[in-house]
Amino acid sequence: MSETARRPLTLIGMVNPPTQRFAAAWRHPDSDRDWLRAGFYVDIARLLERGGFDVMFMPDALAVPEDALGDVTTTLASGGKGAVTLDPITVLSAVAGATTRIGLGATVSTSFLPPYAIARTLASLDHLSGGRVAWNIVTSTTDAEARNMGVERIAPKSQRYARADRVVTQVLQLMESWAPTALVQDAREGVFADQLRVARTPGPREQGAAPGPLSLPRSPQGHPVLMQAGASPRGMEFAAKWAELVFVSADGLEGNRAVRSELRERARLAGRDPDELRVCAAIQPIAGSTKIDATSRRASLLAHIDEASAVRSLVRLMHADPAAVRLQDPAVDFLAEHRGATGSDGFEDMLAAVCRREAFTVRDLALRQSFDQLTPSPTGSGASIAEELCEWQDAGAADGFVVTPAILPGSLEDFVEHVVPELRLRGRLPAEGAPPSASTLRERLAAKISPRGEDQPFEPQVMD
Ligand SMILES: Cc1cc2nc3c(=O)[nH]c(=O)nc-3n(C[C@H](O)[C@H](O)[C@H](O)COP(=O)(O)O)c2cc1C
Repeated sequence: MSETARRPLTLIGMVNPPTQRFAAAWRHPDSDRDWLRAGFYVDIARLLERGGFDVMFMPDALAVPEDALGDVTTTLASGGKGAVTLDPITVLSAVAGATTRIGLGATVSTSFLPPYAIARTLASLDHLSGGRVAWNIVTSTTDAEARNMGVERIAPKSQRYARADRVVTQVLQLMESWAPTALVQDAREGVFADQLRVARTPGPREQGAAPGPLSLPRSPQGHPVLMQAGASPRGMEFAAKWAELVFVSADGLEGNRAVRSELRERARLAGRDPDELRVCAAIQPIAGSTKIDATSRRASLLAHIDEASAVRSLVRLMHADPAAVRLQDPAVDFLAEHRGATGSDGFEDMLAAVCRREAFTVRDLALRQSFDQLTPSPTGSGASIAEELCEWQDAGAADGFVVTPAILPGSLEDFVEHVVPELRLRGRLPAEGAPPSASTLRERLAAKISPRGEDQPFEPQVMD
């Protein structure tokens, strides 16, 4: 058994109801419609905690997705992906108070907010949760998001990633502006904080870098676990530099193995131990008590996708002209014609690879896109899905999985009921009821790795 296989799997549960990857989620009778209630998220977080998941992850975008003409009608009328997005930090704050162990994965874009605002929000949640925050670093992709944030157009990818490098650097500096021992609270001596152990951020103050210090003592993790899903070469360079958890959405086992190898190599070249990266493959599992049970669940999900809505949503996603779409055409040609529409090269490469391999027509692509966004979707008994996930781990294709549920909470319940016990049996997850291996999320994820920043001595700057 390889070194990788001996490490427990990392499990991340993606939660973004009701207009999520499975396009008909909000129409399916088994979906809970109460997704505007805090208790909905708390119940899911407790389920994930029981099921040995490491992180409850909330994706985010800052706009209702538009079509080629800048219209949001299709998305809204059809309940297309992203029609609704709750603010991740707000939801995860509610979850923090009602749970004890689950990691809280919040998506926050680096393209619009000042680093100080990001640092204070993440530090607050890290305090309130006792060190359980993970930051999914995204750079946003669309003009619609830019306009909502007061900017005319989204910047080109190279500029967005260059800004992301600066923003992450500043956020980490701000979050580490208090030494771990700076908060004294000595009531007798009248000393609240040791000002010699609270630092301004290092200069120079070009490009509006916040001087700090942060108006909060150092949080339990120092800074959140860093998550990222770079798929383009520049995105992977960014992940290799910063990320501790990386999401990959590639074409099957081989595609994921290739991306994981590249990420690990890039991390090594960047001077990191490749084991610091936990590469997690996105999957949309359909689990049942038996193969027949799972197959009938899959059929019930598929029955809720109608071709007309699927085509409309593909046309919207790829910014195509509805009148010009020919459903029998090869999907690869359609994708090539609309290259760049999603703002994500890596995602479009993955779509093209699957469509080429499967010889998909535009109609096939539309239906699969609405079902699972072409994410691998293992369907079967808990044992058969667990076997498949172990195979991926043993083949070096993944250190863990981002489980994207078709419907909520049902698909996660099925995973926890059927797949998790089989993963535990195979030694890939800690036993049920096992105490947490450490108090913070970072320590639990990477017990054998010294957390970033912790091994560097604190160097106070001169206070003004
Ligand atoms: C599992 C998964 C979750 C993602 N979640 C988000 C998200 O919440 N918000 C977002 O803007 N992008 C999200 N992305 C997209 C990535 O941030 C990134 O833009 C994409 O992987 C393309 O990489 P690139 O920017 O290097 O081309 C996600 C990607 C994956 C694979």
